[in-house]
Amino acid sequence: ILEGTRITLTLPDDFHHHFRDGEACADVLRHASLRFGRAIAMPNLKPPVTTTERALEYRDHLLSSLPPADDIFTHDRSFEPLMTLYLTDQTTPDEIRKAHATGLILACKYYPAGATTNSDAGVTDVRKVYPALHAMADVGMLLLIHSEVSTPGVDIFDRESVFIETIIKPLVRDMPSTLRIVLEHISTSDAVEYVANVAPDNVRATVTPHHLLYNRNDMLAGGIRPHLYCLPILKRETHRLALLRAVTSGSSKFFAGTDSAPHEIGSKESNCGCAGSFTAHAALELYVEAFESMGALDKLEGFLSCHGADFYGLPRNEFKITLEKKSWTVPWSYKFGKGVVRPLRAGETVAWTIVP
Ligand code: NCD
Ligand code: DOR
Ligand code: ZN
Ligand code: ZN
Repeated sequence: ILEGTRITLTLPDDFHHHFRDGEACADVLRHASLRFGRAIAMPNLKPPVTTTERALEYRDHLLSSLPPADDIFTHDRSFEPLMTLYLTDQTTPDEIRKAHATGLILACKYYPAGATTNSDAGVTDVRKVYPALHAMADVGMLLLIHSEVSTPGVDIFDRESVFIETIIKPLVRDMPSTLRIVLEHISTSDAVEYVANVAPDNVRATVTPHHLLYNRNDMLAGGIRPHLYCLPILKRETHRLALLRAVTSGSSKFFAGTDSAPHEIGSKESNCGCAGSFTAHAALELYVEAFESMGALDKLEGFLSCHGADFYGLPRNEFKITLEKKSWTVPWSYKFGKGVVRPLRAGETVAWTIVP
């Protein structure tokens, strides 16, 4: 596509975002609120957001950390964090009903214990959360799943496909079809095949920009690139291509969830580095690149701005956003609380720019 080409879209939403806590939130929100009208705020804080009270406090903190209203991009619109609860073995149906009654907490996040960053308090056995899941189906809260087994003996590249076979399939059979389920950040052709062709209509998936643009060679061949280390881990090229085909198929089963996951640079470039890629600074632009690579810009707006909102039962955003084919160089770091975060593509170019 020619330099200078512009595309205008309904303002997108991000159905999976790690804003973190404390003063770092303001630094993350500055990037996210330029690009998205709403974002699902992930609850894996330290300690995790397991109660309605904590979720409402976290929401207040996010709102008070937003950039000033006269900011060049946000002057004419607001940004809304959509809240979630972190499911544990102890989550009660009462807590679910209480959370739902606020009207501000839309979903619960299921982390298998030990699967990823701050997941120690996660679910140890899916059966333990069945009462909570039934309550969620009753009231209409969504179930967002980090679909990876944490079993030590299972190879890290197989953890998603094994989770789908051993946990998701029985779970979907056992739950009423009124429970809306999202497999978050899918990374394999197995997940694509399951969601597109096997699962019932109450099962959908989010896809990140990094899983659409990178494979495991990008992370590991010719040197190890810790900022591409995330969970689920990047897979081989055939899986990346399956994800690209899925999101550009036009199927409403797939929608955007960036999983932008900032970590202070020292905890990534480390003897034992944390999982997570920070993409909030360019998430929208990167999705456009991915769709452009497939010649499928006509399918972009559905994926970014419609399928997710429709499934969540939210009105689509009224504002529009315009991007131009004009490359820019990503800085080596951005401020992140008291430290810095290294963004995806640091020192390299991104092909699209948001028009203010
Ligand atoms: C962040 C940090 O280190 O500042 N946490 C993290 O990367 N896991 C932000 C936070 O602690 O909330
Ligand atoms: O890469 C990841 N980082 N995957 C997750 O599931 C969690 C996230 C984080 O919170 O850092
Ligand atoms: Zn996850
Ligand atoms: Zn995540």
